[in-house]
Amino acid sequence: MDRPQWALRTARTQYVISLTADARSVVLDHWGPPLERVPRYDQSERVLSHITETDALPVEYASDGQRHTAFTELRVDRGEAGTGAIWTFDPSAQVTTDASGDELVLTAVDETATLRLELRYRTDHAHDVVARRMVLVNDGPDAITLPRAFSAGWNLPVGQCARVEYLAGSWAREFQRRSVDLDWGTFSIGSSDGITGLRFSPVMAVTGLDDHEHATRSAPAAGYGIALAWSGSWRMQVTSSSVGEHVRVSAGVDDHTITVALLPGEVFESPESLGIFSAQGAAELPQRWHEFQRTLRRDIRRPIVYNSWMATEFDVTVQHQSQLAQLAAQVGVETFVVDDGWFLGRTSDRDGLGDWTADPAAFPHGLGELADAVEGLGMDFGIWVEPEAVSPTSRLFAEHPDWIYRADGRPLLTVRNQYVLDFGRSEVVEWAERMLRDVLNSARIRYLKWDMNRTVSDGGRAGDPHGREWAVQHARGYHRVMDMLRREFPEVVVEACASGGGRIDNAVLSRSDVFWPSDQGGARDRLVIQDGYLSAYPAWAMSSWVSDDSGHRDRRAVSLGYRFAVSMCGVLGIGGDLLAWSASQRSEAARMTAFYKDIRRVVQDGTVRTTGAPDRDLYTVTFCGPAEDPRAVVFVFDSDRDRTRDREFPRVHPAGLAPDVAYRVDATGETVTAASAAALGLRVPFAWAPDAEVLVLTPAG
Ligand code: DGJ
Repeated sequence: MDRPQWALRTARTQYVISLTADARSVVLDHWGPPLERVPRYDQSERVLSHITETDALPVEYASDGQRHTAFTELRVDRGEAGTGAIWTFDPSAQVTTDASGDELVLTAVDETATLRLELRYRTDHAHDVVARRMVLVNDGPDAITLPRAFSAGWNLPVGQCARVEYLAGSWAREFQRRSVDLDWGTFSIGSSDGITGLRFSPVMAVTGLDDHEHATRSAPAAGYGIALAWSGSWRMQVTSSSVGEHVRVSAGVDDHTITVALLPGEVFESPESLGIFSAQGAAELPQRWHEFQRTLRRDIRRPIVYNSWMATEFDVTVQHQSQLAQLAAQVGVETFVVDDGWFLGRTSDRDGLGDWTADPAAFPHGLGELADAVEGLGMDFGIWVEPEAVSPTSRLFAEHPDWIYRADGRPLLTVRNQYVLDFGRSEVVEWAERMLRDVLNSARIRYLKWDMNRTVSDGGRAGDPHGREWAVQHARGYHRVMDMLRREFPEVVVEACASGGGRIDNAVLSRSDVFWPSDQGGARDRLVIQDGYLSAYPAWAMSSWVSDDSGHRDRRAVSLGYRFAVSMCGVLGIGGDLLAWSASQRSEAARMTAFYKDIRRVVQDGTVRTTGAPDRDLYTVTFCGPAEDPRAVVFVFDSDRDRTRDREFPRVHPAGLAPDVAYRVDATGETVTAASAAALGLRVPFAWAPDAEVLVLTPAG
């Protein structure tokens, strides 16, 4: 009898796996364009020497005990009873299909019949993501630990070697695009910060190395994207090996700092890992991610925000904020947000966190006074919070000194003068929920920016068998409170932030409406950050304020038009000190804000593609609108004004225009199509600003 084979369908691809003859492993047969017949992966057709079979097979989920020398996604420690697990899968599993997609649950039991493993797969016929997770149940009488409990192993049929593209960075320099060519070796990225982290983003693009001696079966041009939908500590490892025909990506919760405990009867459910394929290579993967992410989006207006942080920092008073609000209303802002500094004792970053009531020195009549004033100006009102943090001087800390992380009684360590609350404890999460309900009910608040400004050091809980899982529990506690906000305060727009882009991932995306990708206010530096961000995350969630900052790296002056154009590539906001702007700057701002309102639908509901490098070329960001507004908007940024000035009519070659549509370019009267734009380009008159152009392309006729 043929070995069982299971096929899952996505919008354009097929993911096919089968059971080995001994029923011990599930292997990948095919991941790519749909095929009529997919042969089962057969090891006997391949040369195997000096190695066990499971170490060479493209197994879907590898466990120590079963694999011997190659990397495994699961490590099981039974103490004196030994390590590892050998699985036997149930061959009778079936793919179930409903109107939206396919689902498959593969179950296996280990050789002691005390551990149950589930490999869960989910696809959606509207996009190309295959979503996978692992569930492990301890049916036995003894506690076990899992030093590694990853979500999935992905076998990428690109040959033995690969180019890995990833996003790396640091504070104010997030989402820098980097790549590495792996020619037999391992590469790993991750976070042990307790949050997604600033250093790496849990997503990567993998392609075969062209003309490489070990490039095999599938076209080397094919691109695979792997992500982890997780907001706590994590790790993704790529293994390029001299054995086999696949590059393997293993992804899951961080195994350096997390040990999962499974007491008798307990269940561990991993976060979801996501995989996508594109026959057109890595360049097409952003579109595939964005297509999937649109299905996570809820239907709520993402307003043009004025955020007062950069203008006032901790110097918050109702009078000053009201003055800013008046000017914000004049330039067309829709929501006025008071950032850090509004609550009890928060006059610097040393105090106040945890005591979430309006400081009477700043707001003698509570937050309601400013909220009413803002509403009277025709805007919504919003605030900033950092629920996971507590200042050592706060009342909350005095009342609950035991609520913070302090593993093994080590000396307390502050970062930005604050501690972190243990969101793995239900009483802390319940406190956070109560606190947020009270704050949100204290005035008409329609926008909440949730920040988190430090990595977690010394996480853990001595004496708790689950204490070394704190980073998993913390992320779950955070998700639980975010879910409460969505449920109980659906009218509140939620912005996710962690010192800038420290907590941006696909799990937060399904719980927040916008992301704050970086504290970088310099428009040129920010454009580089946005370019990296857009390679994995959507424009409709990319909050971007026009600021007064000259930048940290590229400090060359830019026009106000350039700054607005950068922010208009996502969800436009303003963060500069409007009181310091001249009247003519403010009226220019009002004009550009009104323009953004006109094209917002194209930007937020359309598709986006970039060409060129933001710091080197005439870089373009092109949005192609949805059926309801089929215009296209091409943003052009000049990274080298002097060079461009030499040419009378610089031309750009934007990608991403709708095929078979003739557009009229508003600023130049030219008629273009996707093909002519690629071949001949578009003329850039730089009418919007001397260093940036915004071209609106309207379908002709
Ligand atoms: C870090 C954020 O990224 C900033 O936008 C601001 O909210 C500060 N925290 C406030 O402390």
